[in-house]
Amino acid sequence: MTRPLNIVSICGSLRTRSYNRGLLRAMVERLPATMQFTELDWAALPVYNGDLEHPDLPAEVVRLQSVLRAADGAVIVTPEYNHGIPGGLKNLIDWMSRGPAPHAFFSLPVAIAGASNGMIGTARCQLALRNTLATLYAPTMPFPGVLVSNCKERFDESRTLTHEPTGAFLKDWLVDVEKWMRRFPKPGMQ
Ligand code: FNR
Repeated sequence: MTRPLNIVSICGSLRTRSYNRGLLRAMVERLPATMQFTELDWAALPVYNGDLEHPDLPAEVVRLQSVLRAADGAVIVTPEYNHGIPGGLKNLIDWMSRGPAPHAFFSLPVAIAGASNGMIGTARCQLALRNTLATLYAPTMPFPGVLVSNCKERFDESRTLTHEPTGAFLKDWLVDVEKWMRRFPKPGMQ
């Protein structure tokens, strides 16, 4: 029998009133029964410093790596900062690429989404993120993209998605993500 896909979700924003976490919640509310999201809690990571790799990687880094290694795929939902990847998220990815090979993102399929109050919904960050993940040999879903613009008009004060066409798009997108991620099977997954 096909088992549910075990997806690690990563929000690139740590703030409580994050639109991107609201977008992630909207996805979770629309998940097919054949997918499970577990959000990665990366808030306690230190800033990368090569000295911290010796004599061993920090326990928190090893913990996060093992969560990613056990996953069938990852969904990254992130804002764009200064036309690029938010520093905290890049720091997480850098840490995940350290330690014994293969690193935690190696061959892990990743789908990317983002929300911004601007007009082009994190497009530049997503391009940079695809480039970084390609370097790590992590395939990224080519399309359709999730670039949610004009957030203030699509979410309420509690960051609940209120724009139903966006909700309907997310529902279809998650079906596409599942189909695409199942092209990279792990043992026991069809
Ligand atoms: C931003 N913001 C932003 N937005 C954008 O569309 N392009 C950008 O380059 C930037 N740059 C940027 C830099 C920094 C340091 C901050 C703090 C913010 C605005 C950003 O999209 C907005 O704050 C989002 O609401 C952040 O996402 P969360 O936290 O709501 O998920």
